[in-house]
Amino acid sequence: MHVLVNAAMSADGKLATHRREQLRISGDADFARVDRRRAESDAVMVGVGTVLADDPSLVRFDHERRAETDATGVPARVVADSRGRTPLDAALCDGDAPTYLLTSEAVSRDRRGAFRDAGAQVVVAGTERVDLTDALTQLEREGIEQLLVEGGGELIFSCFDAGLVDELSVYVGPLVIGGRDAPTLADGEGFLGEFPGLSLASVERLDDGVVLRWRIENERL
Ligand SMILES: NC(=O)c1ccc[n+]([C@@H]2O[C@H](COP(=O)([O-])OP(=O)(O)OC[C@H]3O[C@@H](n4cnc5c(N)ncnc54)[C@H](OP(=O)(O)O)[C@@H]3O)[C@@H](O)[C@H]2O)c1
Repeated sequence: MHVLVNAAMSADGKLATHRREQLRISGDADFARVDRRRAESDAVMVGVGTVLADDPSLVRFDHERRAETDATGVPARVVADSRGRTPLDAALCDGDAPTYLLTSEAVSRDRRGAFRDAGAQVVVAGTERVDLTDALTQLEREGIEQLLVEGGGELIFSCFDAGLVDELSVYVGPLVIGGRDAPTLADGEGFLGEFPGLSLASVERLDDGVVLRWRIENERL
């Protein structure tokens, strides 16, 4: 599986305000770029923190670009949700695209059944928290080869921590958000050593910001 992490951050590295309110960081050209990346993906993944904060539907993608790829159908949606906190009426459960709910064994059979009734495919990986390595292996068996991870910061950190990321693209927008508790590109526990190393692949000026593309180095720094 190829894992691309993509997010939009402010010039000071924040994904949203400290109230975790959704904020327009990108301009139209960057939204179009993300729609192309979604069109090239088998699935788009977020953490439950993003579902609870933004209730995204994740169904928008570039249809022309998708027609040029080998992909069939529409990109699936994936949410990492260890405790089954995704509301059953979340936009992700609207039936407009396949939805995979990655949970842990901590979620009761009843709750898993409720998600299935709501149309989601439930993947169980990990005892208390979603084991991303196991979960992504299971998704790969479902035919998901190209995975686009869109955030937020907790999930992105865990993907790096587990060594699952192949590529990182970040739109850096022309604003400062500030706030010590505002989500950043990679939150979680943070690394103290063996930092994932990046190799700069391209720099593109877009709207009034810049898109940085990095490949992930195998060796940690
Ligand atoms: N600017 C952007 O591009 C962008 C993109 C996306 C989101 N955002 C913003 O980011 C904020 C949400 O980010 P967030 O960091 O709070 O939440 P998040 O990363 O979306 O979700 C984190 C949650 O996912 C669950 N999870 C399940 N398995 C996990 C694992 N292995 N590792 C880490 N998390 C796992 C955890 O909850 P459980 O323990 O309950 O499972 C965790 O609290 C919102 O404000 C949203 O607007 C911005």
